[in-house]
Amino acid sequence: MKIKSIVKNGEALSAFFEKEKKHLLHFYPGLTIQRLKQDFKLMAFIHGIDNGTNADEIFDRPYLSYKTNPLTIFFEKLSLGVPLEYITGYRYFYKSLFRVTPDVLIPRSETEILVEKAVSWINKNHSEDFHVLDLGTGSGAIALSILMDTDKKLQIVASDISEKALKVARENYSSLKYLFPAHHKMTFIQSDRLHNIKDQFDLICTNPPYIKRLADREGVHHQVQNSEPHLALFLDDDLYDLWFHDLFHSCFHSLKPHGMVLMEGHENHLEHLAELAKKVGFGQIELIKDYTDRIRFLKLLK
Ligand SMILES: C[S@@+](CC[C@H](N)C(=O)[O-])C[C@H]1O[C@@H](n2cnc3c(N)ncnc32)[C@H](O)[C@@H]1O
Repeated sequence: MKIKSIVKNGEALSAFFEKEKKHLLHFYPGLTIQRLKQDFKLMAFIHGIDNGTNADEIFDRPYLSYKTNPLTIFFEKLSLGVPLEYITGYRYFYKSLFRVTPDVLIPRSETEILVEKAVSWINKNHSEDFHVLDLGTGSGAIALSILMDTDKKLQIVASDISEKALKVARENYSSLKYLFPAHHKMTFIQSDRLHNIKDQFDLICTNPPYIKRLADREGVHHQVQNSEPHLALFLDDDLYDLWFHDLFHSCFHSLKPHGMVLMEGHENHLEHLAELAKKVGFGQIELIKDYTDRIRFLKLLK
């Protein structure tokens, strides 16, 4: 009698992918078996399942289909459409790996353009030290990426309305602080926009919630809608202009004379918001495009 060989983790993962492909692609457009293997490896490594000596060995181990098996848990979360970054708990952004939880937005690659602009402005500027605000810091991805990419002395305030998001940002600060010069300082504050912030800044960076809850709903992928924090994404349509008016007004008064605001926004609304910024008093306003030629950023100078 022929004994059926033991199914290995790698085979179970491939079989799951082939069987559930249609369902998975609905949640994860463009997903490949290579990406799944990479993320399972990352999850196994980070959560101490694999000892790290040869990460590929994880796929040669027998598949044990009990409930606490990491691969079974991985399958369950994938079937529910949980974003891969929330499953592994990590997202690569700019130059580092950031911890992410469902309390924070998964940092997007287009936001790296904002970081690049901020770093380039700091490095070209004659001043040697800067006071910077990252408003709506989430995972802390913008603030920490800037800190890692300049030797000039920075004092960064990372703010968010969400205390849970600030907890994740603090965690990322603790694990990444050894990667940037010791003279940089980073502090955290809970605040609705700038309401609790009294400092004057050279640079204000922000990727605020900018999707109109109703008008922009069609363009939001259902996985984003179902998994990411709505506080990080949406504003009520009827309060949209008021919300940004308050933000721009406070930024104007918290900015030093030669300071700059860099803001990410929605391609459909940034031209209108530029008009709003002008009314508040900003003298120089620039709309910046992303690599796909869509208007995605606003640069404001006094
Ligand atoms: C689009 S997410 C950006 C997160 C992160 N900066 C990034 O780029 O990945 C917006 C962030 O703004 C925060 N936020 C929402 N409303 C806010 C408010 N009124 N004041 C300050 N932060 C707010 C959210 O909690 C969220 O972390």
